[in-house]
Amino acid sequence: MTEGAKKFIQPLTFSALTGYRVISSLWEEPDAGEAAEQNGIDHIAEAQWADALVVAPATANILAKFAHGLADDFLSTMYLATTAPVLVAPAMNVNMWNHAATQANLEILRQRGVGIVEPGTGDLACGMVGAGRMAEPETIAEAVLKTLGRRHDLRGEVVLVTAGGTREALDPVRFIGNRSSGKMGYALAEAARRRGAKVILISGPSALHAPPHCELVRITTAEEMRNAVLERMNEATLVIKSAAVADYRPVEVSSQKLKRTGPLTLELSPTEDILAEVVRRRRPGQLIVGFAAETENRMENGRAKLLAKGADAIVINDVASEGVGIDADTNAATFLSRTTSVELPEMPKRQLADRILDEILSLRRPRPVVAEFSEHQDNQIDTQAAQDRVLSESIPARAGRRQLIVE
Ligand code: CTP
Repeated sequence: MTEGAKKFIQPLTFSALTGYRVISSLWEEPDAGEAAEQNGIDHIAEAQWADALVVAPATANILAKFAHGLADDFLSTMYLATTAPVLVAPAMNVNMWNHAATQANLEILRQRGVGIVEPGTGDLACGMVGAGRMAEPETIAEAVLKTLGRRHDLRGEVVLVTAGGTREALDPVRFIGNRSSGKMGYALAEAARRRGAKVILISGPSALHAPPHCELVRITTAEEMRNAVLERMNEATLVIKSAAVADYRPVEVSSQKLKRTGPLTLELSPTEDILAEVVRRRRPGQLIVGFAAETENRMENGRAKLLAKGADAIVINDVASEGVGIDADTNAATFLSRTTSVELPEMPKRQLADRILDEILSLRRPRPVVAEFSEHQDNQIDTQAAQDRVLSESIPARAGRRQLIVE
C-alpha cells in the first residue's frame, strides 16, 4: 500500500482479510518486528516471485512515476525491479484522467507493454461525472487471468465432482474399501474452480484438504455417495464421477466387533451404479463424465462402460501400472467419448485435470468432420457408421492428438 492508500484504508484491514503482511514502506516499519530490517531489499524479493504486478486503483501520480522511472517508495521501486507483467487500473477525477500529461503517461506505459484496465464512466468520488471510475473488480480479475494466460472458461458452470473411495462397514471397526486417495477428484475440483466454475465436491474419506472455494460434502459409504449426488445433481451443469465407489457391500453388518473364530465367508450384495442412475436422471444440457479404473484390456473395458452407463465420456485409467493412477501423484489416461479418443500421457494430476476439462469442454463445441471417416465418395458421411467405428475400433490416439472426430 502506498502512503496515499493508507489514508483511505488501514493496512490491518488487508492483512486481516488476506492473511498476508502488508508492505507499505521501503524502510523500517515501526510495528513490523523482525521483518523490518528485511524491507530494504523486500522490493527486490517481492518483485522476483510475483507472477504479476497489479495496481488497483492506480492514481495519476503512480502512473506518472511508472512512466518516468521514479523510484521513491515501495511500489514504484518494485515496478522497476519486476520482470512480471504489470497491470494498472486507473481511478481519478475526470479532468485529471483527460489531462494531456496523464494521457501521455498512459501512452508511454502502453508502449512499454503495461496493461491498462480502462476506467469506467459514471459518478466519481469528487462529485463530478465522467471517466475515471476504477474498473469493476471482476473486470480487473479477468484482465489479470488473461495476462497470465489462465482461462476462465468454466464461468457460469456448476461442476459436481465425486472423489475418493467409499467404505462399507463389516463391523464397528472394519470396512471394505479401496486405495483411492481422492487426488484426481480434488485436482479436478480445484482446476474447475480456478477456471471459474462453482464446484460441489462430494468426497469419500480422504486425507486431503478441500480445495479453496469448493463446497465439500463428506460421505463414507456408496449409499451416502448416491444420496448426496442425487440430492445435488440438479444444480450441476457438469457431473464428473471420479470416485472409486464400492461395487459391493456386506449383506449384514455386525453390530459387535467380529471375533476370529476360524474361516469366515462374507456375503456381499452389489451397490447401486450411481453413474448410470445420474445418466438416467440427467436434465437436458447436463454433461456427465465417468472414470474407468482398469487393470487389463483398458480400451475395450472403457468403451463398454461408456456404452453401458450412457455417459458423455469416460476417462480411462490404467490402475495396474507402477507410479500412476490410484493413490499416485501422476496419472495417464485416455479420454473416450462417442466420437473422440484422446491419449493423455503421464503428467501430474493437477495438470491432467486441466487437460480433462479441456476435452470435456470440447464436447460442447460443434465437431468438425474428418475426411478419414468419409468412406463415401459423394461426401455423404454416414454418421452412425462412423460413430460405430469409433466405438468398435478406436485404438489409443497418439499422445495429445485427437484421433477420431466425426460429425
Ligand atoms: N461408479 C458408480 N457407482 C458404482 C460404481 C462405479 O457411480 N457403484 C462409477 C465410478 O465413479 C466411475 C465409473 O462408475 O465413474 C466406473 O467405475 P469403475 O469402478 O471403473 O467400474 P465399475 O462400474 O465399478 O465396473 P467394474 O468394477 O466391474 O470394472
